[in-house]
Amino acid sequence: GAAHTDRIHDSAAKHVTGRADYTDDIAMPEGTLHAYLGVSDVAHARLKSLDLSAVRDAPGVVGVLTAADIPGVNDISPTHQNDEPVFPTDLIQFHGQPLFAVVAESRDLARRAALLAKIDAEPLPHALDPIAAQEAGYPHVTAPLTLQRGDLDAGMAAAKNRIAGRMTVGGQDHMYLEGQIAFAMPGEDDDVIVHCSTQHPSEAQHMVAHVLGVPSNAVVVNVRRMGGGFGGKESQMNLFAAVAALAAKKWGRAVKIRPDRDQDMTATGKRHDFVIDYEVGFDDAGRIEAVGGTFAARCGFSADLSGPVTDRALFHADNAYFYPHVRLSSRPMKTNTVSNTAFRGFGGPQGVIAAERMIEEIAYATGQDPLDVRKANFYGGAGRDLTPYHQEVSDNILDRLVTELEESADYRQRRANILAYNLHSPVLKKGIALTPVKFGISFTATWYNQAGALVHVYNDGSIHLNHGGTEMGQGLNTKVAQVVAEAFQVDFERIKITKTTTEKVPNTSATAASSGTDLNGMAALNAVEQIKARLVGFAAEQWNVAPEAVRFEVNQVHIGTEVLSFDAFIKQAYLARVQLSAAGFYKTPDIHWDRAKGQGRPFYYYAYGAACSEVTIDTLTGEYRVDRTDLLHDVGRSLNPVLDRGQVEGAFIQGMGWLTTEELWWDDAGRLRTHAPSTYKIPLASDRPRVFNVNLADWSENRELTIKRSKAVGEPPFMLGISVFEALSMAVASVADYRECPRLDAPATPERVLMAVDRLRRGA
Ligand code: MTE
Ligand code: MOS
Repeated sequence: GAAHTDRIHDSAAKHVTGRADYTDDIAMPEGTLHAYLGVSDVAHARLKSLDLSAVRDAPGVVGVLTAADIPGVNDISPTHQNDEPVFPTDLIQFHGQPLFAVVAESRDLARRAALLAKIDAEPLPHALDPIAAQEAGYPHVTAPLTLQRGDLDAGMAAAKNRIAGRMTVGGQDHMYLEGQIAFAMPGEDDDVIVHCSTQHPSEAQHMVAHVLGVPSNAVVVNVRRMGGGFGGKESQMNLFAAVAALAAKKWGRAVKIRPDRDQDMTATGKRHDFVIDYEVGFDDAGRIEAVGGTFAARCGFSADLSGPVTDRALFHADNAYFYPHVRLSSRPMKTNTVSNTAFRGFGGPQGVIAAERMIEEIAYATGQDPLDVRKANFYGGAGRDLTPYHQEVSDNILDRLVTELEESADYRQRRANILAYNLHSPVLKKGIALTPVKFGISFTATWYNQAGALVHVYNDGSIHLNHGGTEMGQGLNTKVAQVVAEAFQVDFERIKITKTTTEKVPNTSATAASSGTDLNGMAALNAVEQIKARLVGFAAEQWNVAPEAVRFEVNQVHIGTEVLSFDAFIKQAYLARVQLSAAGFYKTPDIHWDRAKGQGRPFYYYAYGAACSEVTIDTLTGEYRVDRTDLLHDVGRSLNPVLDRGQVEGAFIQGMGWLTTEELWWDDAGRLRTHAPSTYKIPLASDRPRVFNVNLADWSENRELTIKRSKAVGEPPFMLGISVFEALSMAVASVADYRECPRLDAPATPERVLMAVDRLRRGA
């Protein structure tokens, strides 16, 4: 069959040879204009006036767009909270906030002109981080959530040991290779067609319609592919799509907007950074009895997706561990910074790392190997399978997964060797950690868990596939095409995968929450099954056989004793007027979530994984390297092992970057100083583990009826990067004989590692 097989990404050759078309490669019509954003240079201020005369007079400028040019609603808030204007009218809320757009004959001219604005603004006091915001009495950007089970206070009081602490966890820039871009063209009847780089074409469509004050059927959004999204193009393209569309309508010409990298980094949201206050009660063996946690997030000036992101942090603050008594609360804080957004894991990683911090605390307090503490607290055993949101963990495979990795990575022996090495190595110190992950799959906004697809079989037997998902490098199109090829039993090459467009599949969900294949694969299969049912009915009648006697075999159709090529059979069906096209649909069953109660079954299933990393740090400089990493990850029955491994490797490296070198740093004025690759450091090829063993748990299969029993893979392995952070922590702890938890904040940059080493050595 075509599924369960390695198949390289359908565009892999095009990607590496530069022949893949992105939005910026679309041929521009004669007279295309270029837009650029003009931005604020204060973090918080009353906007008194905006003098754009010098901008208008600059060479090549065709005109400017401000809030006054918006015929519809001046709001691009993805959750319709009306708190995110395209352009503000009276209040500046962050440094670098877009205030207007300039449209010119070339991008360079627009970019130069944008700097000429005279902004008259009266500064207001600002709060940049969640703690400052709380102190200044800033509001939440969206309603906080509390998850609780049992009786936290009684559980904590009864626990023999208690530790409380605070952990600061940094954010992350998406650093997609292709930045934000939108390219709008005026269409017939005053319609507008927008090509843009978005994970969420339907939202871009609805948002543009909303801003233009036209119905959604007057806007088409197309996405062929993205050069990476990672969550950064789930809502953040709204601004660019709206500006391009506004300008295209205003001037009746095609308009492209593509910020440079610095503006892309300063004007668009990132992963939320958190300040987490935790308290854990446990017995002398290291078993957790009670957990309390408050998760304050830097949300930025507006809600954007901060509600579901901070919710997901709480959903994952248990990671793989059972908490008998628990209360977790979110604090989605408004701050005078860019509005933070989705990023691979969607808040989950920030929850997981808090659980792992508590495990570390217990391990140092009880003098145990952290792996033993982890195992002692895994879900499983009588009465130990209920999450803080009251969903039962019924598919746990961590015992087997972790045991297998422990053996294949030779964890125990290597840890013993490292402990011995550290005794005799004064400058270089090593650390090793084996960490698990459990990640819930489904959108917690239940209605998002739906998808559509459109399949056409042309009368020559070639197949055209369209679905609601978007391709951002993850291989979604390849996987969905494999599903279709397998269902028809035809060669993969017969399937044409086309651009995602709101004209073919309406009301789609974002390609996010790792659910692209789960949802769109099922919708495509549903479409194929409709067509196949018609074909079987036709064949049974025409050849006078029972429906069971009609079988789709490799590129052939068997009808009783007769054998036809797929093409010949399709031609017959066409001549007999069989409908050869179908719209498929899917919605995830059995999920529900009552946010007010904090109870339900928000996740259809869990994906699991485990990672073991070994590091060496230099205690004189704080520099480090990853010597070896072993990953064992669960993708159920893999639809495509080579693509899944690519996702696991990439996610691990991205997770490692988040916790090591990627540091977002705002100065006191609220200006992001790490705003380009010169100052913001993602992992390089040379930063990858020296030894890197990546395996899929090939024995796993999804208990739920997902597409071919596979599991989602996009986000869960991101959290495998936590193993590097924990290994760094052990190396640091060695300088004080593992007597105390180093309490590293994230990211553990070389500076932070060095400071922690100094602090522990001083015994401070
Ligand atoms: N892989 C690549 N190459 N590029 C990306 O932008 N985004 C990640 C993940 N893997 C991403 C990626 C994120 S954040 C998600 S939610 C999933 O892919 C989305 O795609 P899927 O649902 O098809 O897995
Ligand atoms: Mo992924 S953060 O859900 O786009």
